Amino acid sequence: MAAITHVPVLLNEVIEGLDPKRGGIYVDGTVGLGGHAEAVLSRILPGGILIGIDKDGEALSIARDRLGGYGKAAYLIKGDFYRMAEIVRNTGFAEVDGILLDLGVSSLQLFSEDRGFSFRSSAPLDMRMDKAQDLTAWDVVNKYPEGRLEEIIRAYGEERYARRIVRAVVRNRPIDTCLQLSALIDGLGIRSGRIHPATRTFQALRIEVNMELDNLSSCMSEGVGILKKGGRFCVISYHSLEDRVVKNSFRDTAKQGIMKLITKKPLRPTREELGINPSSRSARLRVAERM
Ligand SMILES: C[S@@+](CC[C@H](N)C(=O)[O-])C[C@H]1O[C@@H](n2cnc3c(N)ncnc32)[C@H](O)[C@@H]1O
Repeated sequence: MAAITHVPVLLNEVIEGLDPKRGGIYVDGTVGLGGHAEAVLSRILPGGILIGIDKDGEALSIARDRLGGYGKAAYLIKGDFYRMAEIVRNTGFAEVDGILLDLGVSSLQLFSEDRGFSFRSSAPLDMRMDKAQDLTAWDVVNKYPEGRLEEIIRAYGEERYARRIVRAVVRNRPIDTCLQLSALIDGLGIRSGRIHPATRTFQALRIEVNMELDNLSSCMSEGVGILKKGGRFCVISYHSLEDRVVKNSFRDTAKQGIMKLITKKPLRPTREELGINPSSRSARLRVAERM
């Protein structure tokens, strides 16, 4: 298989928002394949430090290869960003000059044959960002009680056909692969518009499997706690539920006088970026600064 690459989204906007300074300490809480991290590193050397965190061991080993040339300037750590403060402390730092989160899945996760994130994949339903975790999408689809599954698909997928989908799922359990699930949903006659009718269900399963919204909420407060005065917090989100967590968190800390909003409205990809990288279309960047 050809090497999977991931084009960093909103790169210019992130660099402008984060405003990395030479000699500064920065955390990339979703280092992925290292695209944003490399751009940050190139601006903070000499003397700067990049702490890159990811819960996906495969992504991290690609980032290690890519950023290996930066030596001790790049600390790459497998972990969950909800423990960001502890990870940063264990690395030997108390405070940082800036934090970046680029949420969502990487191309590696989406396009790898075996990760089970995509509704086009014939892989088993998996969707774990951290392969060491027990819970998989298969467990959610096949073992969760009907009511709980419906709740998840309605809340995390914002799917108005959750009831119909879950009834069909329960009738056809066990459902083993991504394709089986997406074909089942496609057969329900609920397609409207251009997006695949399984898109929202797959989003919901991914959020549940990886506890994405809870972890993001925790990280938003952890992050503020370790930011130096004047330090920037940049978050790229890819759907409205994530964006709401970020927006509310920044708004609450701004009300308390802890953070200042740098972006009143989220920044979106330019037409030029969309032309080069269509998968950036749902990205929204919000930036706030520690007071
Ligand atoms: C969109 S990708 C980041 C891509 C990266 N900015 C780049 O330029 O290559 C998102 C990454 O965040 C990671 N991730 C998502 N939630 C996480 C969490 N709670 N803790 C740590 N990493 C997480 C995923 O495993 C994935 O590798």
